[in-house]
Amino acid sequence: MERDRWNSKMGFLLAAIGSAVGLGNIWRFPYTAATNGGGAFLVPYLFAIITAGIPILILEYTIGKTYRSGAPSALARINRKFEWLGWFQVMIAFVITVYYTAIIVWVISYIGFSTTLAWGADPTGFFLEYIGLTSSALDFGGIQGNLVLPFVIIWAVTAFVMYRGISKGIELACKIALPVLLLLTLIIVIRGITLPGAVDGLNYLFTPNWDRIFDSSVWVAAYGQVFFSLSIAFAIMIAYSSYLPKNTDVVNSAFITATANHGFELFAGIGVFSVLGYMAFSQGVPVEEVAAGGVGLAFFVFPAAISAMPALNGFIGVCFFGALLFAGFTSLISIIQAVITGISDKFELTHKKATTIVLIPSILVSMVFITGSGLIILDIVDAFINQIGIAGAGLLEVILIAWFFDPEKLRAEANSFSNFSVGKWWTYTLKIITVIVLGFMVIKNTIDFATKGYGGYSSGDVMIFGWGALVLCIIVTIVLTSMKGKEGFANLSKSDKEVK
Ligand code: PHE
Repeated sequence: MERDRWNSKMGFLLAAIGSAVGLGNIWRFPYTAATNGGGAFLVPYLFAIITAGIPILILEYTIGKTYRSGAPSALARINRKFEWLGWFQVMIAFVITVYYTAIIVWVISYIGFSTTLAWGADPTGFFLEYIGLTSSALDFGGIQGNLVLPFVIIWAVTAFVMYRGISKGIELACKIALPVLLLLTLIIVIRGITLPGAVDGLNYLFTPNWDRIFDSSVWVAAYGQVFFSLSIAFAIMIAYSSYLPKNTDVVNSAFITATANHGFELFAGIGVFSVLGYMAFSQGVPVEEVAAGGVGLAFFVFPAAISAMPALNGFIGVCFFGALLFAGFTSLISIIQAVITGISDKFELTHKKATTIVLIPSILVSMVFITGSGLIILDIVDAFINQIGIAGAGLLEVILIAWFFDPEKLRAEANSFSNFSVGKWWTYTLKIITVIVLGFMVIKNTIDFATKGYGGYSSGDVMIFGWGALVLCIIVTIVLTSMKGKEGFANLSKSDKEVK
């Protein structure tokens, strides 16, 4: 079967950057940085980029382009006993897919709401009513009628892009979406920094609080941010790089992806915190009182700030939610592709068939998130999947490759097509630093969740949707691993035997 290919290395890079640049950059980074030491956070953050972000990107790109398959088959080609880890990562990708779409559904509606500032004087109340929030996770309250149209729109566009495949679908979508995203973000940053109070917001974001640097939770937050932000350890980057020619320079690709992603993140942070500074100024309160991340930032605080702006309110609203849409969409398609590549490589399905097999359950399960308890379930699932699932998948990946396989082989492979050689530091960093930090992170997060629960939700809800989501990932991983793939899926063809 002919394997799809990126049209150009530039196309691949745009898609990889599109995956990396997502909601995490706009609503997760600024708040995480501000509450974890401000300017001082940049130290553990930079350290995490150098010791985990870039090394793991190089690792995943090398695995993908060398073994030319998605995470499960690529890992199986390295060692048949590693296949399960690929499926675990694919399952994490599946779970993120189903709730990420819900966020994009809200964002689409909010582009419309922005034009009339429909949230009025109480954006929080407006949002909770709009999503029809119920009081607990199991109290679904049915599918919310006003979410159906944006839900259909996002899935229709997504399916269209996915069926068109790597080069004609994803690559093209990213070529269009990324420049638009950059422009929209630029507008927000310019608007933000020219508002009164912006400096207070930026001071809050960047003033270093050096004491925090000795706090282990700050380091855990930095590693978590880098993993999520670079889309590593959830099968995406292996899938994307599997459509590259073998002679691609993946080392410079990893540096370019990381620089673009983290550069965008800092840039967006400046926009977000200038606006928060203005918001605090206009209410006469300190910045920390209005600072927020995640859902609260996008759907409670920003709408209020947009309404409070002196002019062009609707326009700024459309730019902000438009930026979230484009950033989120290029991430969404990458995560679905990670699942599609995994399935089509093991079972040797055509692209169309694999796409259908992945889209149907994704659409069905994602309906849960447009019911009245969608936000509650999303919050719980997201916390567990990120803080235990992704961190655990990253840890296992590094352990398997660095300790049970010879990473020096992969380093040699990466270097043989690179102008810039990766030194031995790469192997040692992965083997030691990354394993220690991620190991600590997974253990700490697991103990925290087990002893403190999460977000004040009932222990039953946390059990079902938090631990339950992880157990479900493990069960499906076992099932998919034990299924018989097409003969030889784990072997490279004869002509590729030199890749060992
Ligand atoms: N890097 C993405 C972000 O920052 C993470 C992500 C990728 C989330 C793909 C969902 C899907 O948002």
